[in-house]
Amino acid sequence: MTRLVQLGVPVVAENAVPEDGPMTDGFGRRIEYLRISVTDKCNLRCVYCMPEEGLPWLRREQLLSYEEIGEVVRVMAGLGLRRVRITGGEPLVRRDLPTLVRILRDVPGIDDIALSTNAVLLGEQAGELRAAGLDRVNVSLDSLIPERIDAISRRAGSAAAIMGGIAAAERAGFFPLKVNCVVMRGRNDDEVEAFAAVTRERPWHVRFIEVMPTGDNLGVSHDEYVSSDEILGRVARIGDLRPVAGPHGNGPAKYYAFDGAAGTVGVISPMSHNYCGTCNRMRLTADGQLRPCLFGDLHTDLRSPLRTGAPLEPLIRQTLRIKPERHWLVQGSDVGSGGLRALSQVGG
Ligand code: 5AD
Ligand code: SF4
Repeated sequence: MTRLVQLGVPVVAENAVPEDGPMTDGFGRRIEYLRISVTDKCNLRCVYCMPEEGLPWLRREQLLSYEEIGEVVRVMAGLGLRRVRITGGEPLVRRDLPTLVRILRDVPGIDDIALSTNAVLLGEQAGELRAAGLDRVNVSLDSLIPERIDAISRRAGSAAAIMGGIAAAERAGFFPLKVNCVVMRGRNDDEVEAFAAVTRERPWHVRFIEVMPTGDNLGVSHDEYVSSDEILGRVARIGDLRPVAGPHGNGPAKYYAFDGAAGTVGVISPMSHNYCGTCNRMRLTADGQLRPCLFGDLHTDLRSPLRTGAPLEPLIRQTLRIKPERHWLVQGSDVGSGGLRALSQVGG
């Protein structure tokens, strides 16, 4: 029997990038958006994301401090970074997030600071985050039915907290709200029309997301995947949609609206319509890895250089050189995810 043995280090494709000026990768894509994960922990266990028992969490000393995150953003802002999004895990479980918002607010060049949250803790924190200078909030909401929210998030009582959090965000002035819904066959796909109908009355930007495969969700992502074309077909049953520009933002969503509607309906199709060609982003993990792509295990450690005072710019340029052209995810397989168990580990 022949056994294939992998020898040495994996080959990483490097492409030439400009040595100075704004961050540009080897495929000519300008990078002006950074997603910053502040923790890998979460207070929910959504079925498409984390296993029920949780994951091996990072230790406190492995996390970048808010000052260290601020330093990375300062350097990148000097290289053309304009927008940041704070993510997790669940970012609101990390203590004193408004302090990070204030640090980022003070970085010259950063003109948009957004937060992705499950909204469980937003009720207590929305006002203070707004006062600290947070511009926008995206919330995850996978059902409009409380029992289903509790079931999908595997936490009893989460629905009530989430609804309270969304109301608090609206009161605090986070308008219009983007609402993210991962569609899963047999779990919430029958609510696509109801979610879309909400946008007629409320200024919500509802975005339906195709589930992506990660190491811990292969069953769900394989068996329950619903394509964005199917989702749009269902929305069209309750009214005519026209394409619209959509809200201010930086994402790959395509937006549509019903005539006279207060909000929009969007689809995010990482699986069926790969949008890597217009990718404008990198990711900073909670433990200080700069990642050029959500998938694959490519990363550059920034934590050690931050702590020894080594310059960051060469490492950032190096990360641009290894940014891949696209992902190669296949539903039901974790081959393309580079050992990634959950998006919470890299700041989905
Ligand atoms: N596929 C698609 N979206 C995911 N998210 C997390 N894991 C996945 C996945 N496997 C998204 C959800 C959630 C946000 C925090 O990350 O939209 O709202
Ligand atoms: Fe960008 Fe990677 Fe996502 Fe493609 S998979 S859009 S390259 S982050």
